[in-house]
Amino acid sequence: MQSTNPAQDYAFQTVRHVEAGIGASARLGELAARYAPGARSALLVTDAGVRKAGLFEPALRALREGGLKVQVFDGVQADPPDHVALFACTQAREVGAGLVIGFGGGSSMDVAKIVACLAHPDNRLELPQLYGVESVRIQRLPLLQVPTTAGTGSEVTRVAIVTTGATTKSGIVNAGLLADAVLLDAALTRGLPPAVTAATGIDAMVHAIEAYTSARRKNPLSDMLAREALRLLGGSLLRAVEQGEDLRAREDMLRGAMLAGMAFDNAPVAAVHALAYPLGGIHHLPHGLSNALVLPHVLRFNEPAAAELYAQLAGVLLPQAAPGAAGARQMIDHMAGLCASSGLPTRLRDCGVEPADLALLAREAMGQQRLLQNNPRPLDEADALAIYEAAF
Ligand SMILES: NC(=O)c1ccc[n+]([C@@H]2O[C@H](COP(=O)([O-])OP(=O)(O)OC[C@H]3O[C@@H](n4cnc5c(N)ncnc54)[C@H](O)[C@@H]3O)[C@@H](O)[C@H]2O)c1
Ligand SMILES: [Fe+2]
Repeated sequence: MQSTNPAQDYAFQTVRHVEAGIGASARLGELAARYAPGARSALLVTDAGVRKAGLFEPALRALREGGLKVQVFDGVQADPPDHVALFACTQAREVGAGLVIGFGGGSSMDVAKIVACLAHPDNRLELPQLYGVESVRIQRLPLLQVPTTAGTGSEVTRVAIVTTGATTKSGIVNAGLLADAVLLDAALTRGLPPAVTAATGIDAMVHAIEAYTSARRKNPLSDMLAREALRLLGGSLLRAVEQGEDLRAREDMLRGAMLAGMAFDNAPVAAVHALAYPLGGIHHLPHGLSNALVLPHVLRFNEPAAAELYAQLAGVLLPQAAPGAAGARQMIDHMAGLCASSGLPTRLRDCGVEPADLALLAREAMGQQRLLQNNPRPLDEADALAIYEAAF
């Protein structure tokens, strides 16, 4: 099966060090010593939920045993506002942090990336200068990432998303944000509540699907990663939701989410994310849920342009997938079924969205041209409105 042109030129980049294991967060001290040998203090960036779950205690002990003074910033909020990231930077500067650790979901890891840049002693940049794609050359503090959700893949991406103003999100895409090292410890995700497991897991699956069908920069390595990610995530999502203590399922999800992150960091995501962002910005729905709500409808919209690739993914997700158009339809139905069986709401009307909101959502989605340009089928404001109406 040939999913890309074999003669195609491509570039692929990812983090240089991944370490995984049950209980591996207790080895964070060794990674700190390796990547920030001269550092005396560190800022661990997290949120109140992760603190309450007691997840970073072993990591903290390991870091302190190595002689580091560790300050914990637990003020991250979901869809982090820019002022929260700036406040975390101030704390990092105050303690003279020589190392930044992102410990949590995508929100905490994204803030950690920004702190590592802005709190570098030689940094002369302000946050808005970072927005955009490779807008500046970034110098940053050593950065370690420890995900506690199996979702965003932020641990291996060069992307950080912050909420700017009341409803808009701004993205930083810069290779300087790639972490020095990533630590995967599935034990940290064991207590993730079913609804968060479902939403973040669907987010990761969307990363794999959109990377595999991306109109730009899709390549043999991102394809390989997206397929393996989808195999792991599709095979274990419901088990992770229903039996949260199942560490095998949790490991599959965590590895799958990371592989999907590596894929979409090189073959970027598209219309599902473009239409999901306004739901987060305006209605404050969790990122993964926003994706799940529009996913089946965007897949149906894309079907005429992406049928062959969807059929290939059906072969990854289903034991007996049909080839061609029938396989594409199976894949779309399977994803719609998975969203529903994971227990997530499936309609916008059940998530506080009113009919009168749809036009604004469609207008806002058009602001996400960075993502829409990757969609396998061109999508305009009228198409976006029709998709939101179908999802309503
Ligand atoms: N940088 C990227 O590449 C990228 C990609 C996709 C999304 N994002 C961003 O990531 C954010 C979403 O991240 P997310 O979906 O991981 O959610 P999140 O980080 O906002 O966390 C969601 C909730 O789960 C809780 N939580 C996290 N881990 C837990 C655990 N192990 N046990 C119990 N509770 C736990 C947190 O306390 C929080 O309340 C959004 O801001 C989105 O824009 C970034
Ligand atoms: Fe996402």
